[in-house]
Amino acid sequence: MANKSVLDLRKLKAGNDKIVMVTAYDYTMARLVDMAGVDMVLVGDSLGMVVQGRQDTLPVTLDEVIYHTKCVARGLEQAHLVFDMPFGTYQVSAEQALENAIRAIKESGAQSVKLEGGERVADAIRLMVAAGIPVVGHVGLTPQSVHAMGGFKVQGRTDEAAERVIRDALAVQDAGAFCLVLEGLPTDVAAEITARLEIPTIGIGAGPHCDGQVLVCTDLLGMNLGFKPKFVKHYARLQETILDAVGTYASEVRTGAFPDGDHSFTRKSPRKLAKLY
Ligand code: KIV
Repeated sequence: MANKSVLDLRKLKAGNDKIVMVTAYDYTMARLVDMAGVDMVLVGDSLGMVVQGRQDTLPVTLDEVIYHTKCVARGLEQAHLVFDMPFGTYQVSAEQALENAIRAIKESGAQSVKLEGGERVADAIRLMVAAGIPVVGHVGLTPQSVHAMGGFKVQGRTDEAAERVIRDALAVQDAGAFCLVLEGLPTDVAAEITARLEIPTIGIGAGPHCDGQVLVCTDLLGMNLGFKPKFVKHYARLQETILDAVGTYASEVRTGAFPDGDHSFTRKSPRKLAKLY
């Protein structure tokens, strides 16, 4: 089976079918989410926080996203794979952005790249698209600008701010992006952008009217129950399942209950080992 292409994803919007996107950072999770039938998998720079335990996504490097995307690519049979361009790999110039996007596509196995920003990254998007690289835009709450935003804050709450985000979304579409992530926006602002754009919008913390939704895999699986921003829904409570399983394993190792005969090997010959020497 081939990975979904940009044409397949366009058809989903045309047919009013919602697009399902989720993040993954390794082979095992990629296999699982692909088997579950998601349409798009994003190797987000959120790996800086989820995998590396950092405070934000800023220190993540191109090499690190390439490494994780290669692992994820091996696990996908049908989902479209998106490579998240980390901070510093596309802001210096449109040419720098193109060089790094080419490296991302050549080395990682991804079918498209994602970058944050609106009007200010339009030239970079144009160059990438001209080079044959499909681009996913990302506007609203853009985590790589965490310091400029004064924290991970919902954007577009005033009329002026909402108009700015709408202009950014239109600029990303005009530059040739095939899809747009809307993060941390009031529901009506995301709905207005979705209605105005021809390309599909994928929301995270942007309400129900987007053409699709994305969540971080560890959030939707409840692997860190202490992290529960308003927009996250836990579809499982894996933190509890894992703590319970690993706790039981630890106590069985300590009491000697594991491994028992069912989980140990026997020799073919029943002779006592001492007699073999
Ligand atoms: O890095 C990431 O995981 C993202 C999504 C949350 C959209 O950008």
